[in-house]
Amino acid sequence: MYAIGNDHAAIELKEIIKKHLEARGIEVKDFGTNENVSCNYTDYAEAVANAVAKGECERGILICGTGVGISIAANKVNGIRACCCSEPFSAKLSKQHNNSNILCFGARVVGSELAKMIVDAWLDAEFEGGRHQTRVDMISAIESRN
Ligand code: RB5
Repeated sequence: MYAIGNDHAAIELKEIIKKHLEARGIEVKDFGTNENVSCNYTDYAEAVANAVAKGECERGILICGTGVGISIAANKVNGIRACCCSEPFSAKLSKQHNNSNILCFGARVVGSELAKMIVDAWLDAEFEGGRHQTRVDMISAIESRN
């Protein structure tokens, strides 16, 4: 089960990405928003980040206008490694090296076809572990210290 969430800027793209995930056989839990009124991306970031951090959802996708605000907010939840990616290379590496558990992008930055390529690159990549696990552990240690 993957979690998905967005603000008002990304309702249309969220629907496209949901369908894309479902077409790949991935079950999706939609945390909203589905209302076409201005809202705060922080609420949806927190809901998706909590679902992932608690293990209720395997990983998550968050979309706002730029992908920036929603990724900053998601990263405030312990255990979350949310990456804002506007192209597939960073999305792939964010999984291979950083074990990103939430992928973010901006509906005002990427078109729907590029967004699907970003999602596919992320889904198809595997965390490489090894020295990267050491660094991910060091990220967790920062959370514990602060
Ligand atoms: C909403 O207008 C916009 O600020 C939001 O979608 C996002 O881009 C923030 O980072």
